Amino acid sequence: MPEQRQASSALALEQTSNTPLIEITHATVCRGDNRVFDDFSLTLSQHESVVILGPNGAGKTTLLKLLMREIYPLWRDHPVVRILGKERNDIWELRRQLGIISADLQENYSPEVLGRQVVLSGFFSSVGVWGHHRLTDEQYQRVEAVLSQLDIQALADRAFGELSSGQQRRLLLGRALVNAPAHLILDEPTSGLDLSATFQYLQTMRELIRSGHTLVLVTHHIHEIPPEVTRVVILNQGKVWADGEKSEMLTESRLSSLYGVDVRLVESAGWYQVMPA
Ligand SMILES: Nc1ncnc2c1ncn2[C@@H]1O[C@H](COP(=O)(O)OP(=O)(O)O)[C@@H](O)[C@H]1O
Ligand SMILES: [Mg+2]
Repeated sequence: MPEQRQASSALALEQTSNTPLIEITHATVCRGDNRVFDDFSLTLSQHESVVILGPNGAGKTTLLKLLMREIYPLWRDHPVVRILGKERNDIWELRRQLGIISADLQENYSPEVLGRQVVLSGFFSSVGVWGHHRLTDEQYQRVEAVLSQLDIQALADRAFGELSSGQQRRLLLGRALVNAPAHLILDEPTSGLDLSATFQYLQTMRELIRSGHTLVLVTHHIHEIPPEVTRVVILNQGKVWADGEKSEMLTESRLSSLYGVDVRLVESAGWYQVMPA
């Protein structure tokens, strides 16, 4: 019956979009000899941009590595980490669904790779484009469209190693965007950038949220939280220390207690800045 089929496919669609981006239940995660997470639970929705905040060593990068399936929790008899509803993900598909930008990635690029190749490499989730990579006309066109979206056409023929950190970071954003991922995963995106590069990057992040992308932004820099982000998850010593609305999470008393120093917090037009009390 056509109506029935329509109704069931509509339901399937809704279930898909209600599926969390990541669902972690009672996970134990070890790295080297360290038990970084013990009985750790957290769910992030597909529809909500979120900031993961926390001091050095809190477990922020570990959480991203779980999300990118670079590390796995200890085995249990029930699924402990589901990403987009799956207990096991096709890694290559996942790396195209989730655009990631991190300082690690930036350091891994060979200095002689050209800007255009950096963006193209997003199709292969690789750190360059090699002889065995076959590219279609559509892929070349998509790269040019992304270069122009980010206004970085001038970087296309320049060697990665000759560029400023801010320019490199924009190319890596382009690399993530070629696959048109719904979700962007950013690990301390503005660290090491000067003021003008930081502001430009933050402006681009806001535009991406407004155009329907969700962001998972991992940082300990409170000034890089875009006004559009409303949920803040605070990690501390491998635990979800607090989780909720930004206005309730970002308070002087909470941040002072989190970082163990007295801080003063200033809010202006939806942005926050901290300073010594
Ligand atoms: N490769 C590793 N081997 C052993 N311990 C690690 C490794 N990477 C991180 N850790 C430990 O895991 C904890 C969380 O680290 P991480 O997730 O990088 O924190 P954050 O990104 O919040 O600074 C820290 O105690 C750190 O020392
Ligand atoms: Mg980190």
